[in-house]
Amino acid sequence: MDTANPCGIRGIAFTEFCGPDLGQLERLFLAFGFSKLHRHPARDIVHFRQNDIHFLLNGEREGHSADFARAHGPAISAMGWLVDDAEAALATAVARGAEAVPAAAKDHAYPAVWGIGGSVLYFIEVGVDVYARDFVPLDQPIVQQDKGFLVVDHLTNNVPIGGREQWAAFYKDIFGFTEVRYFDIQGAKTGLTSYALRSPDGSFCIPINQPKDEKDQIAEYLREYRGPGVQHLAFLTEDILASLDALRGSGIETLEIDDAYYEEVFERVPGVREDRARIREHQVLVDGDADGYLLQIFTRNFIGPIFIEIIQRAEHLGFGEGNFGALFRSLEKDQERRGVL
Ligand SMILES: [Fe+2]
Repeated sequence: MDTANPCGIRGIAFTEFCGPDLGQLERLFLAFGFSKLHRHPARDIVHFRQNDIHFLLNGEREGHSADFARAHGPAISAMGWLVDDAEAALATAVARGAEAVPAAAKDHAYPAVWGIGGSVLYFIEVGVDVYARDFVPLDQPIVQQDKGFLVVDHLTNNVPIGGREQWAAFYKDIFGFTEVRYFDIQGAKTGLTSYALRSPDGSFCIPINQPKDEKDQIAEYLREYRGPGVQHLAFLTEDILASLDALRGSGIETLEIDDAYYEEVFERVPGVREDRARIREHQVLVDGDADGYLLQIFTRNFIGPIFIEIIQRAEHLGFGEGNFGALFRSLEKDQERRGVL
Protein backbone atom coordinates (compact mmCIF):
# COMPACT_ATOMS: atom_id res chain seq x y z
CA MET A 1 0.00 0.00 0.00
CA ASP A 2 1.15 3.50 -0.87
CA THR A 3 1.12 5.22 2.54
CA ALA A 4 0.66 8.66 0.97
CA ASN A 5 -2.25 7.41 -1.15
CA PRO A 6 -3.68 4.51 0.88
CA CYS A 7 -6.83 4.06 -1.22
CA GLY A 8 -5.02 4.49 -4.55
CA ILE A 9 -7.06 7.51 -5.70
CA ARG A 10 -6.48 8.53 -9.34
CA GLY A 11 -9.13 11.18 -10.02
CA ILE A 12 -12.85 11.76 -10.38
CA ALA A 13 -14.84 9.23 -12.40
CA PHE A 14 -18.30 10.85 -12.32
CA THR A 15 -20.67 13.14 -10.46
CA GLU A 16 -24.28 11.99 -10.03
CA PHE A 17 -27.17 14.44 -9.72
CA CYS A 18 -30.76 13.95 -8.63
CA GLY A 19 -33.68 16.28 -8.17
CA PRO A 20 -37.41 16.84 -8.50
CA ASP A 21 -37.08 18.33 -12.01
CA LEU A 22 -34.76 16.24 -14.16
CA GLY A 23 -35.69 18.18 -17.29
CA GLN A 24 -34.27 21.33 -15.76
CA LEU A 25 -30.98 19.58 -14.89
CA GLU A 26 -30.76 18.08 -18.37
CA ARG A 27 -31.25 21.51 -19.97
CA LEU A 28 -28.45 22.92 -17.81
CA PHE A 29 -26.04 20.12 -18.74
CA LEU A 30 -26.84 20.54 -22.43
CA ALA A 31 -26.46 24.34 -22.17
CA PHE A 32 -22.99 23.76 -20.75
CA GLY A 33 -22.07 21.69 -23.81
CA PHE A 34 -22.39 18.16 -22.47
CA SER A 35 -23.46 15.38 -24.81
CA LYS A 36 -26.25 13.01 -23.72
CA LEU A 37 -25.00 9.56 -24.57
CA HIS A 38 -26.10 6.53 -22.54
CA ARG A 39 -28.88 5.23 -20.34
CA HIS A 40 -28.91 2.56 -17.70
CA PRO A 41 -30.95 -0.40 -19.03
CA ALA A 42 -32.67 -1.15 -15.69
CA ARG A 43 -32.65 2.17 -13.83
CA ASP A 44 -33.60 5.73 -14.68
CA ILE A 45 -30.03 6.99 -14.98
CA VAL A 46 -28.64 8.89 -17.97
CA HIS A 47 -24.99 9.60 -18.77
CA PHE A 48 -23.74 12.97 -20.04
CA ARG A 49 -20.16 13.63 -21.03
CA GLN A 50 -17.84 16.45 -21.98
CA ASN A 51 -14.20 15.40 -22.40
CA ASP A 52 -13.24 13.83 -19.02
CA ILE A 53 -16.24 15.22 -17.12
CA HIS A 54 -18.94 12.59 -16.67
CA PHE A 55 -22.33 13.50 -15.21
CA LEU A 56 -25.04 11.02 -14.30
CA LEU A 57 -28.64 12.14 -13.93
CA ASN A 58 -30.49 9.83 -11.57
CA GLY A 59 -34.29 9.86 -11.73
CA GLU A 60 -34.96 6.72 -9.70
CA ARG A 61 -38.18 7.03 -7.72
CA GLU A 62 -37.09 4.72 -4.93
CA GLY A 63 -33.87 4.19 -3.07
CA HIS A 64 -31.03 6.43 -2.01
CA SER A 65 -31.08 9.00 -4.78
CA ALA A 66 -34.88 9.40 -4.57
CA ASP A 67 -34.60 9.89 -0.80
CA PHE A 68 -31.76 12.31 -1.40
CA ALA A 69 -33.80 14.36 -3.90
CA ARG A 70 -36.72 14.50 -1.45
CA ALA A 71 -34.42 15.63 1.36
CA HIS A 72 -32.33 18.16 -0.58
CA GLY A 73 -34.09 19.12 -3.80
CA PRO A 74 -31.70 19.30 -6.75
CA ALA A 75 -28.50 17.81 -5.38
CA ILE A 76 -25.34 15.80 -5.89
CA SER A 77 -26.28 12.41 -4.51
CA ALA A 78 -23.13 10.48 -5.44
CA MET A 79 -19.66 10.75 -6.83
CA GLY A 80 -17.29 8.17 -8.27
CA TRP A 81 -13.57 8.32 -7.62
CA LEU A 82 -11.09 6.48 -9.80
CA VAL A 83 -8.86 4.10 -7.83
CA ASP A 84 -6.22 1.46 -8.57
CA ASP A 85 -8.24 -1.37 -6.98
CA ALA A 86 -11.86 -0.80 -5.94
CA GLU A 87 -12.19 -3.64 -3.39
CA ALA A 88 -8.84 -2.75 -1.81
CA ALA A 89 -9.89 0.91 -1.67
CA LEU A 90 -13.09 -0.05 0.16
CA ALA A 91 -11.27 -2.31 2.63
CA THR A 92 -8.65 0.35 3.33
CA ALA A 93 -11.19 3.17 3.64
CA VAL A 94 -13.29 1.14 6.09
CA ALA A 95 -10.21 0.14 8.10
CA ARG A 96 -9.36 3.85 8.36
CA GLY A 97 -12.79 4.91 9.58
CA ALA A 98 -15.16 5.19 6.59
CA GLU A 99 -18.49 3.40 6.58
CA ALA A 100 -19.37 1.05 3.71
CA VAL A 101 -22.64 1.68 1.86
CA PRO A 102 -24.88 -1.42 1.83
CA ALA A 103 -25.88 -2.85 -1.56
CA ALA A 104 -29.53 -1.82 -1.06
CA ALA A 105 -28.54 1.87 -0.99
CA LYS A 106 -26.47 1.72 -4.18
CA ASP A 107 -27.62 2.26 -7.76
CA HIS A 108 -24.27 1.11 -9.15
CA ALA A 109 -22.57 -2.21 -8.45
CA TYR A 110 -19.28 -0.72 -7.24
CA PRO A 111 -17.83 -0.59 -3.72
CA ALA A 112 -18.78 2.62 -1.92
CA VAL A 113 -18.56 4.50 1.37
CA TRP A 114 -20.73 7.30 2.75
CA GLY A 115 -19.43 10.76 1.81
CA ILE A 116 -20.33 14.36 2.51
CA GLY A 117 -23.90 14.86 3.72
CA GLY A 118 -24.82 11.21 3.25
CA SER A 119 -23.91 11.15 -0.44
CA VAL A 120 -22.45 7.92 -1.85
CA LEU A 121 -18.78 7.79 -2.77
CA TYR A 122 -18.12 4.97 -5.27
CA PHE A 123 -14.72 3.49 -6.06
CA ILE A 124 -14.29 2.86 -9.79
CA GLU A 125 -11.21 1.02 -10.96
CA VAL A 126 -9.05 2.83 -13.49
CA GLY A 127 -9.67 1.24 -16.88
CA VAL A 128 -13.24 0.12 -16.14
CA ASP A 129 -15.56 1.63 -18.74
CA VAL A 130 -18.71 2.12 -16.66
CA TYR A 131 -20.75 3.26 -19.67
CA ALA A 132 -19.78 0.34 -21.90
CA ARG A 133 -20.26 -2.13 -19.05
CA ASP A 134 -23.39 -0.93 -17.23
CA PHE A 135 -25.12 1.38 -19.72
CA VAL A 136 -26.48 1.18 -23.27
CA PRO A 137 -26.25 3.85 -25.98
CA LEU A 138 -29.32 6.07 -26.25
CA ASP A 139 -31.47 5.52 -29.34
CA GLN A 140 -31.45 9.27 -29.84
CA PRO A 141 -28.26 10.63 -28.30
CA ILE A 142 -27.65 14.38 -28.27
CA VAL A 143 -24.08 14.84 -29.42
CA GLN A 144 -22.77 18.38 -29.10
CA GLN A 145 -19.57 20.23 -29.86
CA ASP A 146 -17.87 20.59 -26.48
CA LYS A 147 -17.27 24.03 -24.97
CA GLY A 148 -13.74 23.33 -23.84
CA PHE A 149 -14.47 21.94 -20.36
CA LEU A 150 -11.92 19.21 -19.73
CA VAL A 151 -12.05 17.88 -16.20
CA VAL A 152 -13.32 18.76 -12.70
CA ASP A 153 -10.47 20.87 -11.28
CA HIS A 154 -11.93 21.01 -7.78
CA LEU A 155 -15.17 20.71 -5.89
CA THR A 156 -15.96 22.60 -2.74
CA ASN A 157 -17.86 21.29 0.29
CA ASN A 158 -19.94 23.50 2.58
CA VAL A 159 -20.18 22.31 6.18
CA PRO A 160 -21.79 23.80 9.31
CA ILE A 161 -19.85 25.55 12.06
CA GLY A 162 -17.73 22.87 13.72
CA GLY A 163 -17.91 20.58 10.68
CA ARG A 164 -14.67 21.60 9.07
CA GLU A 165 -12.39 19.57 11.34
CA GLN A 166 -14.61 16.53 10.99
CA TRP A 167 -14.66 16.65 7.19
CA ALA A 168 -11.01 17.64 6.84
CA ALA A 169 -10.20 14.59 8.95
CA PHE A 170 -12.42 12.41 6.71
CA TYR A 171 -10.46 13.36 3.59
CA LYS A 172 -7.03 13.50 5.25
CA ASP A 173 -7.06 10.52 7.61
CA ILE A 174 -8.96 8.09 5.39
CA PHE A 175 -7.77 9.02 1.89
CA GLY A 176 -4.49 10.88 2.42
CA PHE A 177 -5.57 14.31 1.19
CA THR A 178 -3.16 17.06 2.25
CA GLU A 179 -3.94 20.61 3.26
CA VAL A 180 -2.71 23.06 0.64
CA ARG A 181 -4.29 26.34 1.69
CA TYR A 182 -6.20 28.00 4.46
CA PHE A 183 -8.26 31.15 3.93
CA ASP A 184 -10.08 33.49 6.23
CA ILE A 185 -12.21 35.71 4.05
CA GLN A 186 -14.03 38.79 5.16
CA GLY A 187 -16.62 40.46 2.91
CA ALA A 188 -18.28 43.76 3.80
CA LYS A 189 -20.91 42.09 5.96
CA THR A 190 -20.16 38.37 6.06
CA GLY A 191 -17.19 36.02 5.95
CA LEU A 192 -16.06 32.44 5.73
CA THR A 193 -13.12 30.26 6.54
CA SER A 194 -11.91 27.58 4.20
CA TYR A 195 -9.38 24.75 4.12
CA ALA A 196 -8.28 23.48 0.73
CA LEU A 197 -7.30 19.82 0.52
CA ARG A 198 -5.55 18.15 -2.41
CA SER A 199 -6.10 14.52 -3.36
CA PRO A 200 -3.03 12.35 -2.76
CA ASP A 201 -2.50 11.83 -6.51
CA GLY A 202 -2.72 15.60 -7.06
CA SER A 203 -5.53 15.33 -9.61
CA PHE A 204 -8.22 17.39 -7.81
CA CYS A 205 -8.86 19.50 -4.73
CA ILE A 206 -11.63 19.80 -2.17
CA PRO A 207 -11.78 23.13 -0.36
CA ILE A 208 -14.05 22.96 2.71
CA ASN A 209 -16.00 26.12 3.64
CA GLN A 210 -17.39 26.80 7.06
CA PRO A 211 -19.64 29.80 7.81
CA LYS A 212 -18.72 32.48 10.28
CA ASP A 213 -22.27 33.39 11.20
CA GLU A 214 -25.87 32.51 10.40
CA LYS A 215 -26.29 35.07 7.60
CA ASP A 216 -23.40 34.42 5.28
CA GLN A 217 -23.61 32.58 1.99
CA ILE A 218 -22.38 29.29 3.46
CA ALA A 219 -25.07 29.36 6.17
CA GLU A 220 -27.63 30.21 3.49
CA TYR A 221 -26.50 27.23 1.42
CA LEU A 222 -26.75 24.90 4.41
CA ARG A 223 -30.34 26.02 5.04
CA GLU A 224 -31.39 25.70 1.41
CA TYR A 225 -29.59 22.41 0.79
CA ARG A 226 -30.68 21.16 4.23
CA GLY A 227 -27.27 19.94 5.25
CA PRO A 228 -23.65 19.83 4.16
CA GLY A 229 -22.80 19.13 0.55
CA VAL A 230 -21.08 20.26 -2.63
CA GLN A 231 -21.16 24.06 -3.01
CA HIS A 232 -19.59 24.20 -6.47
CA LEU A 233 -17.80 22.20 -9.10
CA ALA A 234 -15.01 23.90 -11.04
CA PHE A 235 -14.56 22.94 -14.71
CA LEU A 236 -11.05 23.32 -16.07
CA THR A 237 -10.67 24.91 -19.51
CA GLU A 238 -7.52 25.80 -21.44
CA ASP A 239 -9.21 28.88 -22.95
CA ILE A 240 -11.79 30.50 -20.71
CA LEU A 241 -12.56 33.28 -23.20
CA ALA A 242 -13.32 30.76 -25.96
CA SER A 243 -15.42 28.72 -23.51
CA LEU A 244 -17.39 31.84 -22.57
CA ASP A 245 -17.83 32.75 -26.24
CA ALA A 246 -19.20 29.24 -26.74
CA LEU A 247 -21.61 29.70 -23.81
CA ARG A 248 -23.11 32.86 -25.36
CA GLY A 249 -26.83 32.47 -25.84
CA SER A 250 -26.93 29.41 -23.57
CA GLY A 251 -28.86 31.28 -20.87
CA ILE A 252 -26.19 30.48 -18.27
CA GLU A 253 -25.75 33.54 -16.06
CA THR A 254 -22.53 34.48 -14.30
CA LEU A 255 -21.98 36.78 -11.32
CA GLU A 256 -21.65 40.48 -12.09
CA ILE A 257 -18.36 42.10 -11.15
CA ASP A 258 -17.92 45.81 -10.31
CA ASP A 259 -16.20 47.82 -13.04
CA ALA A 260 -13.87 49.11 -10.35
CA TYR A 261 -12.43 45.59 -10.12
CA TYR A 262 -10.76 45.97 -13.53
CA GLU A 263 -9.15 49.29 -12.62
CA GLU A 264 -6.61 47.57 -10.39
CA VAL A 265 -6.59 43.88 -11.20
CA PHE A 266 -3.98 43.99 -13.97
CA GLU A 267 -1.64 45.85 -11.63
CA ARG A 268 -2.14 43.20 -8.98
CA VAL A 269 -1.62 40.40 -11.55
CA PRO A 270 0.60 41.85 -14.27
CA GLY A 271 1.53 38.71 -16.21
CA VAL A 272 -1.84 38.01 -17.86
CA ARG A 273 -1.38 37.08 -21.53
CA GLU A 274 -5.04 36.98 -22.58
CA ASP A 275 -6.89 39.92 -24.12
CA ARG A 276 -7.73 42.29 -21.25
CA ALA A 277 -10.70 43.90 -22.99
CA ARG A 278 -12.27 40.47 -23.52
CA ILE A 279 -11.54 39.49 -19.90
CA ARG A 280 -13.40 42.61 -18.78
CA GLU A 281 -16.20 42.13 -21.29
CA HIS A 282 -16.83 38.58 -20.07
CA GLN A 283 -16.41 39.72 -16.43
CA VAL A 284 -13.74 37.12 -15.82
CA LEU A 285 -11.86 37.29 -12.50
CA VAL A 286 -8.07 37.25 -12.38
CA ASP A 287 -5.76 36.15 -9.58
CA GLY A 288 -2.14 35.13 -9.22
CA ASP A 289 1.32 35.84 -7.97
CA ALA A 290 4.85 36.27 -9.33
CA ASP A 291 4.87 32.73 -10.77
CA GLY A 292 1.55 32.50 -12.54
CA TYR A 293 -2.11 33.33 -12.59
CA LEU A 294 -5.60 31.96 -13.02
CA LEU A 295 -8.75 33.19 -14.73
CA GLN A 296 -12.10 32.21 -13.26
CA ILE A 297 -15.81 32.96 -13.40
CA PHE A 298 -18.79 31.76 -11.37
CA THR A 299 -22.33 31.01 -12.46
CA ARG A 300 -25.27 32.09 -10.38
CA ASN A 301 -26.83 29.31 -8.29
CA PHE A 302 -27.38 26.61 -10.82
CA ILE A 303 -28.63 23.37 -9.32
CA GLY A 304 -30.48 24.34 -6.15
CA PRO A 305 -27.81 26.31 -4.29
CA ILE A 306 -24.97 24.57 -6.21
CA PHE A 307 -23.08 26.64 -8.76
CA ILE A 308 -20.39 26.05 -11.36
CA GLU A 309 -17.00 27.71 -11.61
CA ILE A 310 -14.99 27.86 -14.83
CA ILE A 311 -11.25 28.07 -14.34
CA GLN A 312 -8.18 28.41 -16.53
CA ARG A 313 -4.78 28.00 -14.90
CA ALA A 314 -1.43 29.41 -16.00
CA GLU A 315 1.16 27.99 -13.60
CA HIS A 316 -0.99 28.85 -10.60
CA LEU A 317 -2.52 26.35 -8.18
CA GLY A 318 -4.66 28.67 -6.04
CA PHE A 319 -8.42 29.04 -5.95
CA GLY A 320 -8.71 32.78 -6.52
CA GLU A 321 -8.18 33.87 -2.91
CA GLY A 322 -7.32 37.38 -4.15
CA ASN A 323 -10.79 37.54 -5.71
CA PHE A 324 -12.74 36.48 -2.68
CA GLY A 325 -13.21 40.08 -1.56
CA ALA A 326 -14.63 41.10 -4.97
CA LEU A 327 -16.64 37.94 -5.16
CA PHE A 328 -18.02 38.34 -1.69
CA ARG A 329 -19.17 41.85 -2.53
CA SER A 330 -20.90 40.45 -5.60
CA LEU A 331 -22.54 37.64 -3.61
CA GLU A 332 -23.58 40.05 -0.86
CA LYS A 333 -25.23 42.24 -3.51
CA ASP A 334 -27.03 39.16 -4.75
CA GLN A 335 -28.07 38.28 -1.18
CA GLU A 336 -29.24 41.87 -0.63
CA ARG A 337 -31.33 41.70 -3.81
CA ARG A 338 -32.93 38.54 -2.52
CA GLY A 339 -33.50 40.10 0.92
CA VAL A 340 -31.26 37.70 2.87
CA LEU A 341 -28.90 40.42 4.13
FE1 LIG B 1 -13.61 27.21 -6.60
